[in-house]
Order: sequence, then structure tokens, then C-alpha cells
Amino acid sequence: MRRRLTRKEFLTLTTKCAGCVAVGAAGMSLIGREGIAQVDLPPWPWPYRKIDPEYVRKLGHEGYWEKGYGCAYGAFRAIILPLREAVGYPYTMIPPELMIWGHGGVVGWGGTCGALLGACAAIQLVCDKPTADRLIHELQGWYTQALLPTDISNEYAQKGEFFVQKYTRPLPQNAAGSPLCHVSVTLWCERSGFTASSLERKERCGRLTGDVAARAVELLNQWADGQFQSIYVPPESIETCFTCHGDKGLDNVKAKMNCTQCHTPHP
Ligand code: HEC
Ligand code: HEC
Repeated sequence: MRRRLTRKEFLTLTTKCAGCVAVGAAGMSLIGREGIAQVDLPPWPWPYRKIDPEYVRKLGHEGYWEKGYGCAYGAFRAIILPLREAVGYPYTMIPPELMIWGHGGVVGWGGTCGALLGACAAIQLVCDKPTADRLIHELQGWYTQALLPTDISNEYAQKGEFFVQKYTRPLPQNAAGSPLCHVSVTLWCERSGFTASSLERKERCGRLTGDVAARAVELLNQWADGQFQSIYVPPESIETCFTCHGDKGLDNVKAKMNCTQCHTPHP
């Protein structure tokens, strides 16, 4: 294992070593060009240390509102910042701004919920492909069925325990049945009576950002303890559709979303 450097240590080292060519022990090559240090990143996946999901939930809500960067940035940052604190390097090397584009299901297109995108990117940073596939499948399944924003988030808002106070009343909850931003937001608007551009809808997505990041970290923590088990049960209708549309039949569908949310079952 390589020794970890905190951001401060790293900066001290690079300042002291401005003229050096290499700092071998830390795996860094320092190139003098315009004083910019070049650092070798450790091999992927990066080391994970268990972090507190409740801290992550609050950071997710905060990040959603921060500079208007939104859900994907909010969720990714909510996992990266605690990892910077718990592990340090290499998490100090990755800008959470990387995920801004995910907002509103990718720059407002209403595709996959950006909070999922941000959380999934963080999962993929610390897990190999088969592990990330399992954790992300679970996270998305949970997202489709969970009542969001969660009671915990509504309670933080009411008690003023979030880091940002935009709206403190509890908000109506809904289970989207879908990982899509469009479906999630619009069904929530129908349920709650609030419009899509209202403060309440934004705050709902802010709380949800925290909830999704926190759930991702719960799953990561379970996995880190060797305790991860999938509990998501897909709607039965999907399996029925796949008896004919799956790879042993027509083989014309690749999806795990709930078919009947968009198609009416046919005889
Ligand atoms: C008993 C087999 C069977 C089952 C079960 C089944 N399908 Fe189909 N489905 C078909 C066949 C056969 C077609 C026609 C295929 C073609 O023309 O290429 C079809 C066509 C479709 C089409 C194309 C539009 C249409 O209506 O013609 C859609 C959409 C579709 N199925 C969705 C579903 C969904 C959603 C489910 C589960 C709720 C489902 N199917 C279950 C056999 C099945
Ligand atoms: C978010 C909405 C959505 C979901 C969920 C969804 N589909 Fe579709 N599906 C579409 C759209 C849109 C099309 C293309 C337009 C059309 O043909 O209806 C399509 C096309 C299809 C077609 C081809 C239709 C044709 O005209 O030949 C089949 C078959 C199909 N879907 C089956 C499924 C099955 C099975 C599932 C569940 C695993 C599923 N879909 C989930 C929206 C959806």
C-alpha cells in the first residue's frame, strides 16, 4: 500500500520540492513546468473506508444547492468529501465538479436521475465491475420503490439539521417506480401539487440527493464488511414480459425498468 498524503502534506511537499524531479516514495513525479505537480494516481479501484451515511445525507442536500450545481454533483461530492477526510489521497485529486452534467437526468433531459448518476460514479470508483454492477442494481431498485424524500430527510429539514436551510417543512413522498428523472419528478409533482420549477420541488430533489448518496454509502459499508446482500425484488410483470421478449425468445429487449409503466400488457 502506498502511503497516503493529505492535501496539506501534498502541498507542503510540492512547495518544498519545487525543483525536484521525482519523489519516488509517494509515487509522484514533480515536473517543474509552470510549477504544476504531476501525480500518478493509484490503480483503480481506489481504496474504500467506511463513512457515515448520515453525514453523507446532509452533504448530499448541501451539495445539491451549492452554486446550483444540482443532484449529480451533490451526490458524488457527498461521497468524495468524506473519503477525502477518511482516506485523503487520491480522493483529493478528483474534482466533484466532474459530475455537474448529470443534473436533471443529464443537463435537464429527464433521463436517469442525476443523484443516481453521481452516487453510481462514486461506487464505480471504489468497486470493480461485478461488484459495482451488484451494488448499483440494488441502489436503482431501491430508488424505484423507496418513498422519497425519506422520513429522515424530512426530519432533518424540520429540525434545521441540514447544512443549508432553504425550506424546512416536511415534503410529500412518492415512489417513482422508475430510475428516470422525468418520471420521478413528474409523478412527485402530481402527488404533491407543487410545480416542477417550484422551490418545494427543488428542495425535494435536494433531500432526495442526500437520500440516494446515503443509501449508496450504506450499501458500500455493507460490502466493506462482507455483508452486502441484495434485497430488491423487481416487479413480477418484468419476468412475465421476458418469458417472450428475453434472450430465449424474441430477444428484443434489454431493460430492467418496469415495463408496464410505459407499455400496457398485451395478450
Ligand atoms: C406470450 C409471449 C409474450 C409475452 C408474455 C409478452 N409479449 Fe410482448 N409481444 C409478443 C409478441 C409475439 C409480439 C409481437 C412481436 C413482433 O411483432 O415483432 C409482442 C409485441 C410487443 C410490443 C410491440 C407493440 C405491440 O403491442 O405490438 C410491445 C411494446 C410488447 N410486446 C411489450 C410487452 C410487455 C411490456 C410485456 C409484459 C407486460 C409483454 N410484451 C409480454 C409476445 C409476448
Ligand atoms: C420509460 C418507458 C419504457 C419502459 C419502462 C419500457 N419501455 Fe419498451 N419501449 C418504450 C418506448 C418509448 C419504445 C419505442 C416506441 C414504441 O414502439 O412504443 C419501446 C419499445 C419497446 C418494444 C418494441 C415495440 C415495437 O414497436 O416493436 C418492446 C417489445 C418493448 N418496448 C418492451 C419492453 C419491455 C419488455 C420492458 C420492460 C423490461 C420495457 N419495454 C420497458 C418505452 C419503455
